[in-house]
This record gives sequence, structure tokens and C-alpha cells, in this order.
Amino acid sequence: MNISIIGTGYVGLVTGACFAEFGVQVTCVDKDVEKIAALERGETPIYEPGLEALVARNVRERRLSFSADTPQAVRSSLVVFIAVQTPPAADGSTDLRAVEDVAREIGRSMDGYKVVVTKSTVPVGTSARVRAWIEEELAARGVSHRFSVASNPEFLREGAAIGDFMRPDRVVIGAEDSEAVAIMKDLYRPLYLNETPFVITDLPSSELTKYAANSFLATKISFINEMACLCERVGGDIHAVARGIGLDRRIGSKFLHPGPGFGGACFPKDTRSAAHFAREAGERLEIVEAVIRVNERQRERAVDKIARALGGELRAKTVALLGLSFKPETDDLREAPALEIARRLLAGGAAVRAFDPVAMANAARELPAITLCKNEYEACENANALVLVTEWNQFRMLDLARVRGLLREPIVVDLRNVYDPVAMRAAGFRYECVGR
Ligand SMILES: NC(=O)c1ccc[n+]([C@@H]2O[C@H](COP(=O)([O-])OP(=O)(O)OC[C@H]3O[C@@H](n4cnc5c(N)ncnc54)[C@H](O)[C@@H]3O)[C@@H](O)[C@H]2O)c1
Repeated sequence: MNISIIGTGYVGLVTGACFAEFGVQVTCVDKDVEKIAALERGETPIYEPGLEALVARNVRERRLSFSADTPQAVRSSLVVFIAVQTPPAADGSTDLRAVEDVAREIGRSMDGYKVVVTKSTVPVGTSARVRAWIEEELAARGVSHRFSVASNPEFLREGAAIGDFMRPDRVVIGAEDSEAVAIMKDLYRPLYLNETPFVITDLPSSELTKYAANSFLATKISFINEMACLCERVGGDIHAVARGIGLDRRIGSKFLHPGPGFGGACFPKDTRSAAHFAREAGERLEIVEAVIRVNERQRERAVDKIARALGGELRAKTVALLGLSFKPETDDLREAPALEIARRLLAGGAAVRAFDPVAMANAARELPAITLCKNEYEACENANALVLVTEWNQFRMLDLARVRGLLREPIVVDLRNVYDPVAMRAAGFRYECVGR
């Protein structure tokens, strides 16, 4: 089967490479010609473990190719995935311009039956709009072609994307007709044979499932962060509490780790988007709205914690930030807690030295006012405090004696609770963490 993926970002490139690995003939398309040129030179534009080798193998075996020519890719494909960005607009709604552009382009180039699949995360009703945009373009051309629209939200996690795509907990497919369902099942046959659960449903249910999943996961994070704040007031160790509730199978132990709040390209925008389109539909998602507020407050609390550890004054202090990406094993800085923490520290008059194992190039663009260091130890040189923001493995076993020698003051603010408070205090650090 020939398919094309329009939008070769974190989701599109992983999706394309994984389908190619299944044996499908895939064209990954992007309007960013530099990105396509880099991919054609064998360079992977994002950091995702295992992706470079997977892409290289499937290019070599001629199942995966890259193109900036959407019309040509559409004409040669039975299934066309839309995997472009759906960023938040200022009012919390979802900016669907990239999805509309692609849908219209599909309508302008379609030459026969296609299944047009929205993989981007989009508000309920968008697949129906995709159909309308395509039909408008077909009408403008004075032609009529039969096509199906489908929704196939993506649940992969950056940093573990290939494993998530190859061994998903489930695949959700929303479609209007049995022909599209049959083609989608055929495309996902390796997983179907694997007994991966498939949820086959209508378009709105499929679209909403993605928002419900991310809202629920974000709720768990904000919930445990609130409990961590309460522990700081009334006593208690949030890890004992999280374990105590997580062992209840109705609750589950995942996503119960306190920290500086959720970030990344999905949870912040998807919770805001869900809250927004629900309100527009006349229904308030009060839990989701609270989750968003708690998350914003958690960022502020992180900065307050740093300021308190520094004696209440940020001005003229230097802070070493370890870990900038929104989580380990990705170079993605979108809505990363570290960005907001760094900006607030700078606004308060502090200087920031930082290191991240893979996000330095992105950080140079996003945070030109901070000093980017060669490694974690250089970041600590003459800093008043070390702040651990993202728990990369290499920050889990720092040479603490060396860190102490490099810091101007022995202050560690561990926003991921990586270190043991008793051991850190015994080692002479003023140690702050979350909810213990
Ligand atoms: N990143 C994740 O972990 C993740 C997980 C699940 C779902 N999603 C959703 O998947 C979608 C894509 O996310 P992403 O992180 O891959 O975005 P991204 O920004 O990394 O990639 C989007 C790509 O689409 C390209 N593009 C935009 N308009 C185009 C057009 N008209 N023609 C061709 N290419 C075009 C851009 O140049 C870019 O390379 C979003 O809706 C997101 O919410 C993301």
C-alpha cells in the first residue's frame, strides 16, 4: 500500500518510519524544504531514540522517501495522513490553519478515491471540516471524487515514540464508512494480528478520545502536585502517598510523580483546547480548567521555591539549571517548565547557566539570555544554586562532592525528587525538593 504523511515533525516522521518498517510504501511530506533536504541527506531533524537508525534502514530499503511536493504525494497514495501542528491560539482555541491548508491541498490534487486521516490532535468536528474543505476545493475544480475521512489520534510519547507506535496500548480509529475502516485495519495489520486492541468508532468519539486521554493524564499530574503542596504544609512524604494510592489498581501508579508541572507540545495545549471547545459548545470542563490553573501555579511555586532557597532574593544570584527539555530523551522545548522557570529567574534579576544533553540548539534560540554550558559541572561553576529541572539519567548520579566544590553556596533545588533528602542534607547541602 502507498501512503503519505503530510507534516514530518515529531509525530509525522515517527509514524512514517514505523509504517515503512511494517512494509508499507511511505512518503513523508513537509513544506519545510530545508527539513526535507536534511532528511534526504540522511540527517534526522529531531532527537528521538532509535529514530535515526529506523529512518536510515527504511530509506535504504526504499520503503520510505521524503518530498516537499504534496500534490504528487497525494496522487500516489491511497491513504493520506494529516500530521501537521495544531498550536494553541491566544484565546485557548486551536489554530487549525495548517490542517486546513493540507486539506485544501488534498482537495486540489485528488485524482481518485483516498482515505484522508487526521492524526493531528484536533477539536471535535474538525474531521467533518476536513471533508468540507476538500469538497470545496473539488467543487472549485469542477470535479467529483469519492473519498473517506477518518480520525486516528496519536498517543505516542516523545522519548519513547517508536516503542509506543509499534506496541501501543490501543489504536483508535474513527470513520464514517466501512471501506475506510477496512483500509485502516489493513494498514495497521501487523498490530491487528498482534492483538493490539482497536477501538473503531465514529469521528467525534475518536477526536474526543485524544482530549479525554490527555486531560485525564494531566489531571493525575496536577492532582499529585496539589497533594505534594499539601505535604509541604501539613507534613508527609508525597512518594509514600503516591505509592499508597497508586497500588490501588483503580488508580494506578503512573503519572503520580510530583514536579514542576506538566509541559511539552501536548498536555498544556490539549487541556486548554479541550476547555475552550467545551465552553464553545456550552459545556464547562471544570476539572480540566482546574488542572490548568494548578499547573500554572506549580510553575510559580517552583520559582518561589528557588527564590526561598536563595534567601528570598534572586537579584545578582546565579542559578545552574540542569535539564531544559520538557522531559528526558527529547530535544523538545515546547512549553517546557525550564523555559518558564528560566524566564522568571531572569526577570527577577538572576543569571542562568544551563545544560541539557540534547536540547542546547533549541535552547540557544529560545533563551538567548542564558549561558549555555558544555556539561552539568560547567553549569555549576560559581552558581549560587543548582536546580534540577529535567531528570535526564546523567543527572541522577552527579558527583556531589564535585558539585559542592563548584557551587558558590551548597544549595540544591531538586524539582524532580531525584535525590534522597536525608543523604543530601548529610552531605552538607541545603536541599529543597517537592512534597517531602
Ligand atoms: N509531539 C507529540 O508528542 C504528539 C503526540 C501525539 C499527538 N501530537 C499531535 O500531532 C500533531 C503534530 O505534532 P508534532 O509535534 O509532530 O508537530 P511538529 O511541529 O513537530 O510537526 C509539524 C510539521 O508539519 C509541517 N507542516 C505544517 N504545515 C504544512 C503543510 N501545509 N504541508 C506540509 N507540511 C506542513 C511543519 O513544517 C512541521 O514539520 C499535533 O496536532 C500534535 O498535537 C503530537
